[in-house]
Order: sequence, then structure tokens, then C-alpha cells
Amino acid sequence: MRYEPIKKHGIADMKVKPNLLDYERARREMSWESMAKELEWFDDGHINIAYEAIDRHIKTPVRDRVALIWEGKDGKTERYTFHDLYRLTNRFANVLKRLGIEKGERVFTYMDRIPEIYIAILGTLKAGAVTGPLFSAFGSDAVRDRLADSGARVLVTTPRLVKTVDAVVDSLPALERIIIVNREGVPYELKHREVSYEALMEEASDEFEIVKTDKEDFAIMHYTSGTTGKPKGAAHVHEAIVGHYATAKYVLDLHPEDIYWCTADPGWVTGTSYGIFGPWSNGITQVVYEGGFSASHWYRVIEKHGVTVWYTAPTAIRMLMKAGEKVAQKYNLKTLRYMCSVGEPLNPEAVLWGQKVFGIPFHDNWWQTETGCIQIANYPVQDIKPGSMGRPFIGVTATILDEDLATELPPNREGHLALKVRWPSMFRTYWNKKDLYESRFKGEWYITGDRAKRDEDGYFWFVGRADDVINTAGHLVGPFEVESALIEHPAVAEAGVIGIPDPIANEVIKAFVSLKDGYEPSEELKMDIKRFAREKLHAVACPREIEFLPGLPKTRSGKIMRRLLKARELGLPEGDTSTLEE
Ligand code: PRX
Repeated sequence: MRYEPIKKHGIADMKVKPNLLDYERARREMSWESMAKELEWFDDGHINIAYEAIDRHIKTPVRDRVALIWEGKDGKTERYTFHDLYRLTNRFANVLKRLGIEKGERVFTYMDRIPEIYIAILGTLKAGAVTGPLFSAFGSDAVRDRLADSGARVLVTTPRLVKTVDAVVDSLPALERIIIVNREGVPYELKHREVSYEALMEEASDEFEIVKTDKEDFAIMHYTSGTTGKPKGAAHVHEAIVGHYATAKYVLDLHPEDIYWCTADPGWVTGTSYGIFGPWSNGITQVVYEGGFSASHWYRVIEKHGVTVWYTAPTAIRMLMKAGEKVAQKYNLKTLRYMCSVGEPLNPEAVLWGQKVFGIPFHDNWWQTETGCIQIANYPVQDIKPGSMGRPFIGVTATILDEDLATELPPNREGHLALKVRWPSMFRTYWNKKDLYESRFKGEWYITGDRAKRDEDGYFWFVGRADDVINTAGHLVGPFEVESALIEHPAVAEAGVIGIPDPIANEVIKAFVSLKDGYEPSEELKMDIKRFAREKLHAVACPREIEFLPGLPKTRSGKIMRRLLKARELGLPEGDTSTLEE
């Protein structure tokens, strides 16, 4: 069912005049080259993301504006101006220099949302090294796979999280140094290859000559899941900042007086593109809340800090809906003027719920780790069709290709969502997997792996993934990664993993498991397998449900037929089963 569009009635009754006033005209006039000129390039044509996010403002009044309002889990608040971050990131860059880190080397972070993660990421970029933020809920295998693949030389972590690394550190020969951030000052004895963040920062200078990176130099990598193999590192370059800057300005509509809150963790691309680079390159104050989800805590954050622009995700919105309007009514949320959502399909009810409870709808937008910045979006000045991801960003050409990826389809036909190459923040490779990277392109198109439709007004509608990747609570989970972890459990012979629909989390993970001889199905065994997966991978990749089967359906070549498992689970037609093993 299609819902009535939410009409926008011009800018007259908008609290703030949007940065994007005329979509059609901006599309015609937009060029990435001219957008790039709004940033400050070095005289020799080089660019550095951290320079654009922080240093550029030091010569302007933005210098003394609060860049980061950080609220800890316990409610403690710290404020950092752009100038504070300038000094601290310089110090961290000096720390890396002292440790002998050179341009292009990988420096990863594995921390909760504490101020030091922002300092480390930006300091790494200043030093010309490549940053790789790891989500703090990752288990040991997830951490090992990413550090091993990237060949990271330095990891920045905390006394609590380093325990996970200890379990795998012997299989990481490239990892020379572990910097321990101990902001709470817990008793901790540094081990071999560990150094103290606080001690090194104390000794480091506030001055650093930023490394003038080329626009094509690698800057950041985020690991993302595919259907086959372990997660792959989508690598982005310094030029990406042009995309972060432009979309934060025109899609998130950030203005100098805004207090902006992105709820995503920097362990995922939304938390860096829009939790660091986009807002700060626009000189905007942002709030970071260290705590996890809770409706009342979240509303209190908005009230306490006077959040005006809010970027969040559908699962969180649905959880807020479940908590009910009454919770929202206890708080003063009147400062909110604009709200956006990303990461998974935003159901029309959620868009409208925003309108009802906050007086403004949620604006859905679409992008991927690989695209680096928002590609399809709803804008302040355009009508919203609830359930649609919106229209391509002004510098982006999107289309729907047929099954052969050869022909563009007319409106209202379902096919493969593709984007015309290229835009500044597009990934430049999958780390160590050039062939896989190249396989994502067909002619002038980047093939997103999503299925979608475009309507007669140019609005795009998400249909589903073209592959087996599961989207649970906005996190992509590759079934292969989960299956690989499960079969390491002593009782598991085979595992097949699928996503099943869920009203809150979009999809949840279900694992079908066959047991080795000598093991009997039981509830205890299910719990044990879940615990095992949680420790190895992370909470989001841990199966919600496990079902024991005597054997799994496989093709004659031995590949587990996830499609069939899914069809059987959901009572759908089984389709072509001619390759099924007898
Ligand atoms: O399938 C799409 C879904 O999330 C995928 C990208 O996930 P990831 O690489 O983790 O990027 C996170 C940063 C956005 C997409 O291929 N997705 C993302 N946004 C939407 C969406 N599905 C439907 N609607 C969206 N707005």
C-alpha cells in the first residue's frame, strides 16, 4: 500500500532556510569539482580529511566553537572546541610519528564511543596513515580477521577491550604496538608491545605539520559483509571528504547554529562519514552519547543538549515507537527541526510517527559502506513519499538495471540498483581483493547489490538485497562469516544461516545446524552455540534462533542452499531445486 505524500509547502514556514532550495536547479548546476572548491586544498593540490574537519577552522571564528559535546554512559559531560581537537589530534599524530608510523600504514581503533576514538582517528589521518575503526562489540575472531587482513601496525584500545585482542595477538605479526587508552585510570600493567596513550600524549607537542596527502591516498577502511568469504575492507581516499561535506550540508542540512546528533558508532561507516567528517568539515557542533539505546535516555540527550538535527536508524525509531509516545511527551523535544534515517528500509509508519510525535517526519536516505556518502535521499524542500528512499543526491546518477545489468529499466520495474561512477567518496578498492572490487562494476555503473524500483517522479523504492547478506538492525551480516564461526563449535557439523523478517530489527539471524555424531539436540546446546558465536563474532552477528536439522540441503557441489532454507522457513515456493543433492 502506498501512503499519501507528505507535502512540503515551500520554505516560508520552515524554521531554518534549507541549504538546498531548488533540487532540480541544483542538480543541473552541481559538479563535484565546484563542490570541492568549497573546501581548502593545499597549494599543491593535496587534501587531507583531518585538515578539512578540524584545522581549516582554526583560522576562523569556528575555532572556539564546541565541536564535540560528549556525554558518557554515566551522564558525565565533556566539551571540546575545534581548537581543543586541533591540539589533541596534533598530539596524537606526533605520537604515531614517534612510534615510527609512516604514510599509508594502518592504525586501527577498537574503543567505545569515548573522545579518544575521535582524536585517534583524526590524528591518524593527520599523520597520513590509514584509519580503521573497529566496533567495540566485536569478538576475537572479528577483530583478528580485520587486523590480519589490513596488516595494521598499531591498534588503539582500552584495558577492557584489549583482553579480546590478547586471545588472537599471536596470529597478528604485523601488529607492533598497542596503545592503551585508560581514561578511567584503572590499575593496569602494560604488557609486551603495549604503550600508554596518556603518557605518550602528555609528552607530545601540540604542533604537527600535517601530512599533505594526495586526494587518491587511502584514508579510511571499514569492513563490510558480502555473501561469500570474510568481511572485506572497503577502502576510501582523502578526496572522500568532498562527498561527506556536500551531503552533510545538503542532505542533513547542517547549519552553523545546529546541535547535531548522529546515533551511529564510528565502528560503522555512518559513524565516521556522518559522526565525524561530514559535520566537522561543516564546522558543526555535534553530540556523542556513549551509552546504548534506551528511549528515555535518548530523549534526555536531545532535551539536555538541545539537539536540532538528528540522524538515526529505522530499528531505533521502531524501538522508540514501541516504547510509546508517552515517554516522548515527558521531554522537551521542541529543538528538533530536522530528522533523517539510514541503514535499512524505513517503513512508512515510522516516517509518519515522526510527524505525529515530533511534528516533523523522518527523512530516509540510502547509501552503503562502499559509496562512502549518501546517494539517495529525501530533502527538506521535497515532498516525502513515505516508504521511498527519495531521489538521487544532486551529484549522483542512479538507475535500475535489468537482470543482465545491461539495460536501464523504465519506471516502476524492479531491477538492480546501480550508480554511475564516479563520485569522490566512492571506495577505491576492497583491501587485498582487487578482483572482487572490479566485479562490482559493469561499464559505467557500480552495481550496489540492492534491488529497487524507480517511480515516474524519480523516487527510488527499496525492494531487497540481491544477495544473501542479512540486514539486522541496520548492520550487514554475511552468512558465511556466521557459518564459519558456528562450524568451529565442537558439536556443529554444518551450518546454514539466513535472515528472517522481524518487525523491529528488519531481519534477525536464524541458523540451521546439523550436529556431529555423538551430540544430541538440546536447549542447552543451543545456548552454548549462541554464546560461542557471540564471543567470536559480535552481538549483532549472533543468531537469534537456532534450529537443529539432521542434514542441510546442499547443491551437488556441496554448497549449502540458503535460498531453500529460507523458502522453507517462510513457506515460500522452493523455486528451482534441480541442483539439490539427492
Ligand atoms: O541494503 C542496503 C541497506 O544497507 C546496505 C548498506 O549497508 P552498509 O554498507 O552497512 O552501509 C551502512 C551505511 C548506510 C544497503 O546496500 N540500506 C541502507 N540504507 C537503506 C538500506 N535499505 C533500505 N533503505 C535504506 N534507506
